[in-house]
Amino acid sequence: MDEVRIAVVGLGGRGVGTWLGMLQALPGYRITAICDPLEYLHERAISRLQRPDEVRVYSRYEEVLDDSDVDAVALAVRCREQGALAAMALEAGKHVNCEVPACHSLNDCWRIVLAQERSGKVYQLAEQTRYWGFVEAWRKLVAEGKLGHVTLCEGQYFHYYVGQHFRDPKSGTFVHPSRLADYPEAAGTWMNEMPPIHYLPHELSPMLKVLDDRVVQVVGMSTRPQSYAHPQIQTADMQMALMKTEKDAILRMAASFAQPHPEANYHWYHVQGTGGALEWKRANRDMPKMWLADGQMHDLAEVDWRYERTDAPAEARGSGHGDADYYVHAAFRDAILHGKPLEFDVYRAMDTAAPAVLAAESMAQGSVPLAVPDFRPGPNRPKGAAPT
Ligand SMILES: NC(=O)c1ccc[n+]([C@@H]2O[C@H](COP(=O)([O-])OP(=O)(O)OC[C@H]3O[C@@H](n4cnc5c(N)ncnc54)[C@H](O)[C@@H]3O)[C@@H](O)[C@H]2O)c1
Repeated sequence: MDEVRIAVVGLGGRGVGTWLGMLQALPGYRITAICDPLEYLHERAISRLQRPDEVRVYSRYEEVLDDSDVDAVALAVRCREQGALAAMALEAGKHVNCEVPACHSLNDCWRIVLAQERSGKVYQLAEQTRYWGFVEAWRKLVAEGKLGHVTLCEGQYFHYYVGQHFRDPKSGTFVHPSRLADYPEAAGTWMNEMPPIHYLPHELSPMLKVLDDRVVQVVGMSTRPQSYAHPQIQTADMQMALMKTEKDAILRMAASFAQPHPEANYHWYHVQGTGGALEWKRANRDMPKMWLADGQMHDLAEVDWRYERTDAPAEARGSGHGDADYYVHAAFRDAILHGKPLEFDVYRAMDTAAPAVLAAESMAQGSVPLAVPDFRPGPNRPKGAAPT
């Protein structure tokens, strides 16, 4: 096998704007199918294909799974069933590269893990921020013990992203909340239902990599389930998860999509240990910072860490999100074609999904603390067996 025959499922902004381009630029991939139930999206996607004659166009996901010319499914969907769709593809014998977040229920976390274990197919959550340059630098500092015992790690994803909460069913136009009167038939999308905290994988994935750790307990807290900034939106402006890790660190992570935020620095991170501290920049003109307790440092010092890696290969440059988008496609391809083990395997992926799902569950139950399962097989659960 010298190429991955891949179907791109979900032909929205991400699928068409990023995935189609990446998969046609990177050697080792051939797009053999595209799919979206919204047929008005097909034409634009077809126009972005280099060899449209070789690509089948589907409206039903089941047709993709039945297609023997499809080895792998690229899931760029945005829906409650995102995790179930990934599991269905694994169950049908396809490899899966799935967009963030991995899923929206604990059942789907387990369904993905079991389907991956039973099929032996490659499952990857295409979470790319874990490849950022500063994440790698922080990971090394923590691994070398420079931070001592990490006691606190913070992360936030504040992205003013209200343009996709409503959609006109006929034209497919996304409708800004302020223009709903012009589109009387517009209906809420999954963005208008999804608890924002479900989007924590972009914080948990890089920071759990830095800490080499997993979350064992979570409690969530939310503002009311209707936006103050845009009352038409039926999700909270701010949601926060407080988490405890296996290595005894406290994580404080938040997500917000409906309230205004500058068009920059959506993500912010902070790691504090008994030996020092690391901090991402707050504003574009700011700089990341570091302080080491044994470093004869009287204050935090600025460090020119960036999203971009200093060791990025040429094909990564300009791939998106500080060059990071490239890495998830390269890792997925190399796992399928060359059997290269994924560093970000299915268990680490679920370590980023389950705490987020359970944070929302905690909020729904009045902010009760909930235990986060370890999805790895062990003495109590052989590989492929459902948890008891
Ligand atoms: N990693 C990143 O940085 C990043 C950036 C943007 C978006 N995303 C993720 O990418 C995904 C897509 O985002 P988007 O902005 O393109 O969303 P979008 O709403 O524009 O497009 C999603 C598409 O999925 C399709 N879809 C829904 N259910 C489907 C099903 N059952 N079968 C086939 N198609 C189905 C929808 O019809 C829609 O066209 C989301 O999961 C989002 O969270 C990730």
